[in-house]
Amino acid sequence: MVSTFGSRLKLSAMSALSPNPKRPTKKLVAALLDWFAANARDLPWRRTRDPYAIWISEIMLQQTQVKTVIPFWNRWLKELPTVEAAAQAPSAKIHKLWEGLGYYTRVRNLQKAAQVIVEKHGGKFPENFDEVLALPGIGRYTAGAICSIAFNQPTPILDGNVIRVLTRIFGIAENPKEKQTNARLWQLAEELVTHAARLNSSRSSRREEAHSKGRSGQSLLTSAATCLGSCSALNQSLMELGALVCSPRNPQCLICPVKKLCVALKENRVEHLPNLVKREAATARQFVAFVVARNGRFLVRQRPAGVVNAQLWEFPNVECPAARPGAKEIFSGLFKTEAAEIHSFCTVKHSITRYRITLEAFIIQLQQAPQKTDGLWRTPAQMQRLAFTSAHRKVLRALNARAGCK
Ligand code: ADE
Repeated sequence: MVSTFGSRLKLSAMSALSPNPKRPTKKLVAALLDWFAANARDLPWRRTRDPYAIWISEIMLQQTQVKTVIPFWNRWLKELPTVEAAAQAPSAKIHKLWEGLGYYTRVRNLQKAAQVIVEKHGGKFPENFDEVLALPGIGRYTAGAICSIAFNQPTPILDGNVIRVLTRIFGIAENPKEKQTNARLWQLAEELVTHAARLNSSRSSRREEAHSKGRSGQSLLTSAATCLGSCSALNQSLMELGALVCSPRNPQCLICPVKKLCVALKENRVEHLPNLVKREAATARQFVAFVVARNGRFLVRQRPAGVVNAQLWEFPNVECPAARPGAKEIFSGLFKTEAAEIHSFCTVKHSITRYRITLEAFIIQLQQAPQKTDGLWRTPAQMQRLAFTSAHRKVLRALNARAGCK
């Protein structure tokens, strides 16, 4: 068979073709596929084989939960239904569509990748694993997920969920981030999906037979129209098991489809795996922001390139020490203008990566423009169309609520 997956994958797939005979690969794969066929959630990106739509879902699902992603994915696909549309969209539009998802480097890389696909691949999403991996913002996990889900290729996946599932099933006590253990986990993931690839033809013909005899009674994923290949289903079963059953806390071992094969359960080590280094405690940071009003407009500024939340909008603000100066003093330092009256407006709490942010907002009505401004004056309607950082969108919401608009 001529492979389109690239030389790296071909070589590693060869080694996985001879799995360790002690491993219960066959039973595991069968149990995972049966469980997934009966229990997979009906998620919108599971109703398509379009690699573009699947790619968007995988990028959105990095660092973000399924239930949060669904409306964002629907909106994105409605507004930008093709690679060309994503490649050509104005930067303000892609940021607005991503507003609230966070980690905005993802959306900027996504657009760069869309532009590469248009320029280098004529607008057709590449099927070759190495070409997918070469796209901006796509790492080994995402390339594996796209190639397996969209093209049913035996490309392994390993993310936090899959690490948890595999370390527990195989009772791996070493730190999964450590190089050798990580390589071992990729190898296991590859063995499973390679085994699933062998089942493709036999399983789908059994499914078709069941269909024609009218006894499938199965979910959307096994219906004739959307019938998934075994590589796609196997990889998604690992993600799904990690999300629904093999959870970090309170795993549902009693209903687990692979409980009889799970080393961690047998040895009573489930709660101890995976063996990850504890996260550092979050650092508290305090900011003061100013809602400056003049002639029915408000002062807002766009964050520069190269910083966190680059290109998103915010109210003028500064980071302050816990024992901060008074708001008037901070205001005059920032704007080189004295504020006659300044009122406390709202306090917003926001957590991002390892920071716990407290943002205290003050409102100031000015008659004249301050001496120093590095922003733009915008009406409430105009602000509504801009992509704000999450913390500042909360301030904007409070402002709209006060003005009695939505
Ligand atoms: N997490 C990452 N990729 C996913 C997918 N395709 N479906 C559900 N959860 C996921």
